[in-house]
Amino acid sequence: MADIEQLLHARLARAFAAVAGGPVDPAVQRSQRADYQSGAALGLARSLKTDPRALAAKVLDHADLDDLCGEIEVSGPGFINLTLADEVLGRNINELDDRLGVSTVDEPETVVVDYSGPNAAKEMHVGHLRSTVIGDAVVRLLEFLGHRVIRQNHLGDWGTPFGMLIEQLAGDERAGISELGELYVQARRRFDAEPEFRRKSRERVVLLQAGDADTLRLWRAVMETSRRHFLAMYGRLGVRLQDADFAGESSYNAELDGIVSDLDTSDSDGAACVFPQGFTNRDGGPLPLIVRKSDGGYGYAATDLAALRHRIEDLKATRILYLIGEPQHLHLQLVFATAREAGWLVPPVRAEHIGFGSVLGADGKLLRSREGGTVKLADLLDEAVGRAAVHNADPEISEAVGIGAVKYADLSNDRAKDYVLDFDRMLSLKGNTSVYLQYAHARVRSIGERATTGREEPTIAHPAERRLALELLRFPAVIRTTSQTLEFHHLTGYLFGLATAFSAFYEHCRVLGNGGRLTLSDRTAQTLRTGLGLLGIAAPERM
Ligand code: ARG
Repeated sequence: MADIEQLLHARLARAFAAVAGGPVDPAVQRSQRADYQSGAALGLARSLKTDPRALAAKVLDHADLDDLCGEIEVSGPGFINLTLADEVLGRNINELDDRLGVSTVDEPETVVVDYSGPNAAKEMHVGHLRSTVIGDAVVRLLEFLGHRVIRQNHLGDWGTPFGMLIEQLAGDERAGISELGELYVQARRRFDAEPEFRRKSRERVVLLQAGDADTLRLWRAVMETSRRHFLAMYGRLGVRLQDADFAGESSYNAELDGIVSDLDTSDSDGAACVFPQGFTNRDGGPLPLIVRKSDGGYGYAATDLAALRHRIEDLKATRILYLIGEPQHLHLQLVFATAREAGWLVPPVRAEHIGFGSVLGADGKLLRSREGGTVKLADLLDEAVGRAAVHNADPEISEAVGIGAVKYADLSNDRAKDYVLDFDRMLSLKGNTSVYLQYAHARVRSIGERATTGREEPTIAHPAERRLALELLRFPAVIRTTSQTLEFHHLTGYLFGLATAFSAFYEHCRVLGNGGRLTLSDRTAQTLRTGLGLLGIAAPERM
């Protein structure tokens, strides 16, 4: 009986059903007035044209809650207020195991999570931060719930840009990642200015796609440099992506002819297009998804279609999540619709865009470097870690604090919205930040370590103790909301509230020498650690 909220919900649902003669969502919620509240009698009374207070009382007559609640009452216009018995709180805290009351799902799914997806030959920049950070939290959460998760890093590693770059490399394949970045800029300039270079670059793309040995060798060298850079970044970020998870656009090369011939395409100025139903352009005409360009080359749409089909048919995924910024929403909807019409994407398989807003600078515009260019992810992390180092002597702690701050700031903001990157705020020791939680965790741990007394079942008496116990028992419900929405601000907000509840508890209640309170304290540390772990944020033992 670890998820108390769900239990209350189930018991009330049964009582409501008995009274209403059909299913009613009791909508049990945490409340200020009691521990939990249901307002479902109000709506039901309206549709049954009866008195809500009397209806609520009738529901309670049918409800079996005595083993859970100390106080049960109808309040106001017809709310049902439930207060858990103190012994129930104590017992439930005591019985929590490693999973803190969160059960694994009954029917695990194979879920593909497509995240990070940087572009080869370029350094990772702030544009890949959110996909990488949120995607990794999604992976951790779904794995925690017992799903089989397949990470897919859909690298941009194919097409025209690589023709230019390889032509510019001209046989020198020893370039490092920042040199590749410069070479790429030079290549772009020449491509725009020199017709001969443009012609040769295009030829290179053809050679590349046809598997010309010399061209492939150069391309592989570029890829090797890029992979090393990406893996180093993932290592530093504490992100789970590994070499085996790289499935770049290039890996679908051999599939593309087949993909396009299986589609119902029409010709539009030499390009092969599909016009999925239900999409229109500004003038109300059909909207094309270009699957093969007029020069015969395949682009982003074709590789995404191939990737989707591979995920369904070979990886056997039933749920496919795309962690990509909002600007690519239409692209994805067109790809999904095309796959549906082609008969590849059919229930129970779902493809979902998990979109997010942009990272902004203090001026409220897209974050840019002082020189006006894109902000490299490595520089952004250096800045955060450098600022953290001002307060921390231990470089390992500074790294944990700085990286944690960047990730937490991202995850604690509403996923769908843009947010302003603010180093001062994200590294503040007060407020809803990871460093506040990291300190809280280390402090609770040290209390536990100092205590030599054995642990016991807590006796809940003081209001601060009660509040902490209720917070601890809310963890499963928060995990449920977070997994239903894949919005991690539910989890960050909860962890912050838990740390605050602990502070008040510690201020008012003497913990040392009290086995029950030590249990509360141990569970708090464990919950903070587990929660931060799901966010992919380190929780050092000592700070
Ligand atoms: N490389 C792309 C970019 O930088 C992101 C790839 C996202 N994944 C996908 N399946 N399209 O915008």
